[in-house]
Amino acid sequence: MMQADYSFVTAPGAVPLLGHTLRFLRDPLRFLRSLPAFGDIVAIRIGPFSALVVCAPELTRRVLVDDRTFDKGGFLFDRSREFLGNGLGTCPHKDHRRQRRMIQPAFHQARLPGYAREMSAQARAVVETWQSGRTVDVLAETTAISLRTTAATIFSAAPAALRESLAADLATLEEGVFRRMLLPRHVDAVPTPGKRRYDRAQARSRQTIHRIISAYRADNADHGDLMSLLLAAQDDLAAPGAVGARLSDDEVRDQVMSFLFASTDTIGKALAWALYLLGSHPRTAERLHAEVDAVLTDGVATFEDLPRLEETRNIITETMRLYPPGWLLTRTTTVDTELGGRHVPAGTDVVISPYQMHHRADLYTDPERFDPDRWGPERAKAISRSAHLTFGAGARKCIGDSYGMTEATLALATIAARWRLEPIPGRKVKAAPYALALGPKGLFMRTVVRQAKGVRNSY
Ligand code: HEM
Repeated sequence: MMQADYSFVTAPGAVPLLGHTLRFLRDPLRFLRSLPAFGDIVAIRIGPFSALVVCAPELTRRVLVDDRTFDKGGFLFDRSREFLGNGLGTCPHKDHRRQRRMIQPAFHQARLPGYAREMSAQARAVVETWQSGRTVDVLAETTAISLRTTAATIFSAAPAALRESLAADLATLEEGVFRRMLLPRHVDAVPTPGKRRYDRAQARSRQTIHRIISAYRADNADHGDLMSLLLAAQDDLAAPGAVGARLSDDEVRDQVMSFLFASTDTIGKALAWALYLLGSHPRTAERLHAEVDAVLTDGVATFEDLPRLEETRNIITETMRLYPPGWLLTRTTTVDTELGGRHVPAGTDVVISPYQMHHRADLYTDPERFDPDRWGPERAKAISRSAHLTFGAGARKCIGDSYGMTEATLALATIAARWRLEPIPGRKVKAAPYALALGPKGLFMRTVVRQAKGVRNSY
């Protein structure tokens, strides 16, 4: 990695040796929000890394769209690759098109109704265990919904014990990777208990996925899930019988890791933030309840309900504008290039922050306000597509965007049909960005059962 070109403005507050590390660690979101005031591209130094943070929407778009020059890499993805391997989310440009082409059919619109059945069933299974008047750890509950759904749509035939072991290892890895990413490699090599836990989780999760792959290969049945599709995926550009015409076990494992990470945490955290925001915006909650009462027939949202769940969908979109799960993305330049009219050497780390973009007052009216109506058909037209980065942009845009929106919408509608979640007075909720996905910390709420029209007391 080369040093960033300091002809770019450097963010103020850097101290000798540590650069901006302390400011970043103290409050990364605030730090990111402060940067556009200093320029379209701002140089920062965090831990052992120098990087350029791209703040202007048109330059951000250029970085995301030109994925040959601004390839996957940089401090976030380099360390993520250690445990995610070379899957779709982390692979370099040279491997990307082949992988994307082989995997795309699994995310075809025609497959969504099948996935949606699982999404509705898993949301229902979790919320029917709730009891009225209890305090719940909201993120744990919403993560349970997304994890169960992911497991059911990725490898429905895997034994429950293996799925649970994977879930525990994923949590360890997700927490560990952010911390490791800021450490110089020689410090990270020190075998602390945390490092050993992280290494064990990495090795075990790989073994677990290999065991699931072997079982799938052995029974050779189509379970209608993503794993069955990955095992059957053919590279139609490869000569018949050529090496690489199908994904190898290691490639399938890396894809599964990518999906598990990319879907569980993002959707779980988005749902938790939505419930948090509804707790402090009772009028929006009332409108949501009115919508689900009018649309759902027996208290569980289905794929067929989606076109009429507009309010619910706008709430999800606005929640992810305020708290985009993918809050920080990094790239590395593969060649000397130019950005904003200035030279950027090959090997420069480049940072993009959807969170920063979504909070700019020049792009969003009243950006700190939770306002789902801004996504209504008329007002949404005024929002530039360069300003809305919840799912990224360009060839590396999220492959699971429709899947993610569908699951979050169905789960929120299914929760709202039967429950209202009230904030607990005096409890502080904070954004916890020390993970790949941005989640709420300390979010406990009280469950209140609703007697909604058309919803039976028990499902
Ligand atoms: C609400 C939920 C989700 C959000 C907010 C989200 C966000 C994102 C973002 C911002 C990117 C671009 C990363 C970058 O440019 O560096 C991305 C890529 C990706 N996401 Fe998602 N995602 C979500 C759900 C999912 C789901 C459900 C899956 C799969 C089951 C998934 C799989 C992926 C993959 C494989 C990539 C890499 C795509 C590529 O490079 O071709 N995501 N996601």
